[in-house]
Amino acid sequence: MVAQILSGQKIAAQVYAELKERIDRLKSHGIVPGLAMVRVGEDPASVSYMKQKEKIAQKMGIYSKFIVFPEDTSEERLLAEIKKLNDDSKFHGIIVQLPLPRHIDPRKVIEAIDPQKDVDCFHPLNVGKLLIGEPYLLPCTPHGVWQILLRSGYSPEGKHVVICGRSNISGKPLFAILIQKKAGANATVTVCHTGTPNLAHFTRQADILVAAMGSPKAITTDMVREGAVVIDVGVNRVPDPTEKTGFRLVGDTDFEALLEKAEAITPVPGGVGPVTVAMLIWNTVTACEHQVRLS
Ligand code: GUN
Repeated sequence: MVAQILSGQKIAAQVYAELKERIDRLKSHGIVPGLAMVRVGEDPASVSYMKQKEKIAQKMGIYSKFIVFPEDTSEERLLAEIKKLNDDSKFHGIIVQLPLPRHIDPRKVIEAIDPQKDVDCFHPLNVGKLLIGEPYLLPCTPHGVWQILLRSGYSPEGKHVVICGRSNISGKPLFAILIQKKAGANATVTVCHTGTPNLAHFTRQADILVAAMGSPKAITTDMVREGAVVIDVGVNRVPDPTEKTGFRLVGDTDFEALLEKAEAITPVPGGVGPVTVAMLIWNTVTACEHQVRLS
């Protein structure tokens, strides 16, 4: 068996076609969705992610502003900027790229963002709403994972999904999304983490296995059931002198080996990443519709 490769680019393109209609409708009412993106410092992964986000926002006709502060910017200065963006009606979405420098408390920063403009869905109010089954928006990475499954014909409904990783950005909110009592969710979900003894015992039971632990190629073929669907959320930079950049990106799974065992698998790069960016644009459009009461 050779696994189907689930292309994130193809799925993102479908999403953009749908969003284009919603953006055109907003524009016909004289409204342009606006997204402010803030970064502090020059973390290389953050620089790369933000470039991708800005490129797509511009291509989709979103009004976007990219604000970069130097590494030594004070927490106070950053909080003042967020307040300004909260009060600016041109922006319907605000994201502050993580990680932040050590002297800035990410909790304080996230909580300073107006929950209505929190298109990352990191604010505790929005996390709480998701957990009680009344989400405002869905966080981008786990929403991307869900959309990949749904749009590829692998609904998690009634399936056993095993998530490896309990981060606030991926593992935990994906759990909250997939256990929702609604069509297309309704999965039985196991969350494994660094405290899980005998990880393979659990991963082998997965109909759908999501690797989101941030550990290069940690999921090997012996840990996966024949015919499982594998979604790889990992983005790890590993040194590679043959690359111009000196590194290459690999996921949390042994992709090449799993091609012989899985029913379907997402590549890295080109899997979850592009769909995550599409979900950010989705959230910006949804937040805009909500704020101008056009939903
Ligand atoms: N850092 C890694 N992923 C993300 C994300 O989805 N949003 C933000 N703001 N920072 C990140």
